[in-house]
Amino acid sequence: MIDPFGRIVSYLRVSVTDRCDFRCAYCMAEDMQFLPRDELLTLEEMERLCAAFIRLGVKKLRLTGGEPLVRRNVMSLIEGLGSRLGQGLEELTLTTNGSQLAKHAAGLAQAGVRRINVSLDTLDEAKFARITRWGRLGQVLAGLEAAQAAGLAVKINMVALKGVNDDEFDAMLEWCGRQGFDLCLIETMPMGEVTHREETHLPLAAVRRDLAQRWSLSASDYQTGGPARYMRVAETGQRIGFITPLSHNFCEGCNRVRLTCTGTLYMCLGQEDAVDLRRPLRASADDAGLIQAIERGIAAKPKGHDFDISRVAVARHMSVTGG
Ligand code: 5AD
Ligand code: SF4
Repeated sequence: MIDPFGRIVSYLRVSVTDRCDFRCAYCMAEDMQFLPRDELLTLEEMERLCAAFIRLGVKKLRLTGGEPLVRRNVMSLIEGLGSRLGQGLEELTLTTNGSQLAKHAAGLAQAGVRRINVSLDTLDEAKFARITRWGRLGQVLAGLEAAQAAGLAVKINMVALKGVNDDEFDAMLEWCGRQGFDLCLIETMPMGEVTHREETHLPLAAVRRDLAQRWSLSASDYQTGGPARYMRVAETGQRIGFITPLSHNFCEGCNRVRLTCTGTLYMCLGQEDAVDLRRPLRASADDAGLIQAIERGIAAKPKGHDFDISRVAVARHMSVTGG
């Protein structure tokens, strides 16, 4: 699949549910309304869709949400997709808030998952409860321990929030070093209505300059197929990545598209361009119409997003299209 700007699309992110057991303030409204369950694709339909994408050249799949591990029976989907590793599919990964990892880490490794991204914005219990509204830090730390025990490589995603966790970058970097985790700092993106986003937005260029005064950061050509730019941290031997959608536009190398849990394919996190795949999927057991719809979507992939923190770029929350 090649888009109008010559970019090869080889990475599909799939939001398996818009639901989550946390209510992070920058991500969701406290009284978030979720989709009625009967609008969701079944897990079998998701697998069929993923298989079509793999046939069209997708090499990397990431399951996201909401929180992917709260979807009932999600492990059956993960096992089904895992069995396609080595047959076109090269990598199967997951972005999770860690709340259910204690239960599922071993099964994930068994299914062929090698790396996971775990969202963790603070190591302070009270602050964690404040940011996630519904989460408990201990639950996530137990999940991380299970991930380590299962041999999963972990990258911690930390959303940088001015006045909230901007005093914790050193501590997080050090802790990740001790645990053997990479760390990735993320700028808040204007997706969906939430409170206080503008006040907490923190441009990461300044954070990086500040960190470089105390840590030996050197350029790294490490690439995961995602939008992060990585640096090596000499003191810890681990990496630190920066995802800077606002202060640096990362679209030129974009290789990905996103599927929602209702079967809508979004060509960009920050744009409305989309095609419905649910109708062609359900219209026929044959994939011809589905593949046509996918190709129509790829042909309409926009050049990039134009995020601006002072206005909401897209009305849908991150939990609809997956982070
Ligand atoms: N801006 C930036 N990051 C966000 N996440 C969720 N919503 C937003 C937002 N509006 C993060 C989560 C998770 C990752 C998938 O995206 O914390 O780490
Ligand atoms: Fe859930 Fe992740 Fe959103 Fe937090 S950021 S509410 S964990 S989907």
